[in-house]
Amino acid sequence: MPNRTLNIRISRSAAAYPIHIGTGIVSSLSELALSGLVPAPSRVVVVSNRKVAALYADTAVKSLRRGGLEAHVCLIGDGERFKNLRTAERILQFLGSVRSARTDAVVALGGGVVGDAAGFAASIYLRGVPFIQVPTTLLSMIDSSVGGKTGVNTPFGKNLVGSFYQPQCVVVDAGTLRTLPGREITAGLCEAVKQAAIDGGTLFERTSRFLHDPNRELSGQMVADLIARQIKFKSQIVAGDEREDPLHAGPRSRKVLNFGHTLAHALEKATHYRYLKHGEAVGHGVRFAAALSKNLGLLSSNELNLLNDVVLRAGKLPPIDSIEPEAIFASFKFDKKMIGNELQWILLEGIGKPVIVPHSDIPRDAHRRSLVEIGGRG
Ligand SMILES: NC(=O)c1ccc[n+]([C@@H]2O[C@H](COP(=O)([O-])OP(=O)(O)OC[C@H]3O[C@@H](n4cnc5c(N)ncnc54)[C@H](O)[C@@H]3O)[C@@H](O)[C@H]2O)c1
Ligand SMILES: [Zn+2]
Repeated sequence: MPNRTLNIRISRSAAAYPIHIGTGIVSSLSELALSGLVPAPSRVVVVSNRKVAALYADTAVKSLRRGGLEAHVCLIGDGERFKNLRTAERILQFLGSVRSARTDAVVALGGGVVGDAAGFAASIYLRGVPFIQVPTTLLSMIDSSVGGKTGVNTPFGKNLVGSFYQPQCVVVDAGTLRTLPGREITAGLCEAVKQAAIDGGTLFERTSRFLHDPNRELSGQMVADLIARQIKFKSQIVAGDEREDPLHAGPRSRKVLNFGHTLAHALEKATHYRYLKHGEAVGHGVRFAAALSKNLGLLSSNELNLLNDVVLRAGKLPPIDSIEPEAIFASFKFDKKMIGNELQWILLEGIGKPVIVPHSDIPRDAHRRSLVEIGGRG
């Protein structure tokens, strides 16, 4: 499959950085991501976890060594519970122990957990060293590796310590999706539907066509096309609102990327982050926000049905009828998407037409009714 490159400019001040999308391109990591860095690095630390490293670190390291670079692999724990300050400190210590210098690079090889933690460490080690993302989950390819948000979880909440730090380059190897478990694919597809619903137009049409295709394959040209379109969308939103300005509340603000996330975070919290993959929770969240939009008279039944159908084609979502509704509603109060003291909902006035609605404008029964409509308990 031909390799393609998107050049993404996130802010006016920073140079554009390339996003390479292809199949089997981890084996060209050195040429794609490191040969152009000025000044040239001499050492690269690849941050990964045991599972992903067993699959792809050898290929990455071989490419780096062929390119004349000294390559080291720093392993971190696998899973959300390792995305914390202790892991960030471990990465920093590793960088120190191999004497990584300011011009040396950090490569994140893995899903969003590796990318967020490694990116955060790269942003503070020696006040910032070159950072390269090699996302290996669908979610990290279309979402977390683009946009420059890095960070870790803390005892007081998820993603509450971090930085905005853009990578020098992103290498998306769709071939790595071949080994990704089915639930992780569904989770990534739900985030793709979320972005498609916000954008509408061709992104919605392409995403829905991909999901309707009985012969869709998850590691070739078709998925690479979808990933490229999804990344373009995310980068356009980020370029217009790099740091999620609290005062930017337009339909193209970074906040709209939180569509489906208020219920998603509530479901994850109510089940102690153990029952649902984040993307699966987003699948339920998209259906909930769409049902709420219809119940408030914003979205037509036709568009609601269209959206529901697309979410269901992303894969089977774990049922939510055993989750206590009060636990869900209680966590709306602690949602991060607050402006001042009030939670803001991202709803739809149509596919491709997000609107921001204050929590106090929504009657409580609309929440209950919408939860029941998506399979929750009344
Ligand atoms: N920075 C951002 O803008 C942003 C945006 C969205 C999500 N996130 C963060 O991303 C994280 C979720 O990322 P995720 O969904 O990629 O989860 P993840 O990083 O936990 O990866 C999911 C699982 O898949 C495994 N895996 C990864 N690639 C594989 C492959 N190719 N083959 C087989 N197994 C593979 C991982 O080891 C892990 O067990 C969350 O922490 C979330 O907060 C960040
Ligand atoms: Zn998400």
